[in-house]
Amino acid sequence: MKKWMKVVGLIVSVMLLLSVVACGSQGTSGEGGEQSGETESGEKVAKIGVISYLTGDGAAYGEAITSGFEMARDELNEKHKGELKIELVIEDSAGKRDQALNAAQKLINSDNVLAILGPTLSSEMFVVGPEANAAGVPIMGTSNTAKGIPEIGDYVFRNSIPESLAIPAALKKAVDEFGIQKVAIIYGSDDDFTVSGYEVMKKAAEDLGLEILTTEEYATGDTDFSAQLTNIQAAEPDAILASSLYKEGGLIVDQARKMGLDVPFVGGNGFNSPQFINQAGEAANNLVVASPWFPERDDAQVKEFVAKFEEKYGKQPDQFAAQAYDALYIMAQAILDAGTVTDRDAVRDALANIKDFDGVTGDFSFDEIGDPVMEPVVLIVKDGKFVEFK
Ligand code: ALA
Repeated sequence: MKKWMKVVGLIVSVMLLLSVVACGSQGTSGEGGEQSGETESGEKVAKIGVISYLTGDGAAYGEAITSGFEMARDELNEKHKGELKIELVIEDSAGKRDQALNAAQKLINSDNVLAILGPTLSSEMFVVGPEANAAGVPIMGTSNTAKGIPEIGDYVFRNSIPESLAIPAALKKAVDEFGIQKVAIIYGSDDDFTVSGYEVMKKAAEDLGLEILTTEEYATGDTDFSAQLTNIQAAEPDAILASSLYKEGGLIVDQARKMGLDVPFVGGNGFNSPQFINQAGEAANNLVVASPWFPERDDAQVKEFVAKFEEKYGKQPDQFAAQAYDALYIMAQAILDAGTVTDRDAVRDALANIKDFDGVTGDFSFDEIGDPVMEPVVLIVKDGKFVEFK
């Protein structure tokens, strides 16, 4: 080989090596294609990771959540064209802690995302939150409602109303309207969210001076609740308090009605999916929940969101879609306030400073630890639909 050819070969090899090293240090991944950073035209590109429950028993949660994110992304990218472009890298956790953790590690270490939205379940956030926090990646849950989520660390936030705000409001309204004095409780004892909801229900019932006749437990994935419901029926409660995700919740309510247990149910956040009503059918009537989202709210922003969502997805947005939609707007606001798509600390600080954000789920601020400050509305299922419980 001629000497000059060797020199050219060497230069080409060094250039290739440098480009590989450069890509590696930025954590470029195949998905989305772009890095967080500024384009030549000056547009800032923010790469945001999403971890969602997209397959399995709770997939309706993840489907609603990602629809909300995608709609917000499209609107934001149109609104801030030339200034900010949001790119979502969406990962499925299947509602599993280990899969959620793998997804987080990929998003943090390989995709080099600026921030993460999700995961769906509180149990997943309890493993993903510490990972993101240790890596200094801001993470915001949009559906985690168990106690202790923002307490995970300074980089962990949520815009979902915790059970401690929602359940007491729902129970108080149900007690006032139905004259409830004695209750039975049923809950999933192997899931962080359902356990947290149970603890809130117990305390809320005690605070209201209600008698708790019996407390029944089940495990995630159970399909036959006849033993627990037989005990509840024998105790003759005025209402049943249930802390469940929609899959088990739908079966519990359906089986209760089939046994002739016609008393009202008061539920936690897991019931706020229309998938619960789809599963339980008529049995869902007289279930009371509290939610920051009410699609019939007389508000121009809500009306526009509902109309656009219906046009795009052919159905009404549920609470999970609405909270996700607001969450991406809140994140985008923090990025714009921080003025950077590469400095995660600055985005974290801007997120912590969000105040009086006017979203489709109402007026929103974070409290000092990163929990939402908002007002829930109490809803009841009537004729197969969530309506305001007045
Ligand atoms: N609210 C449910 C949870 O926190 C989805 O797990």
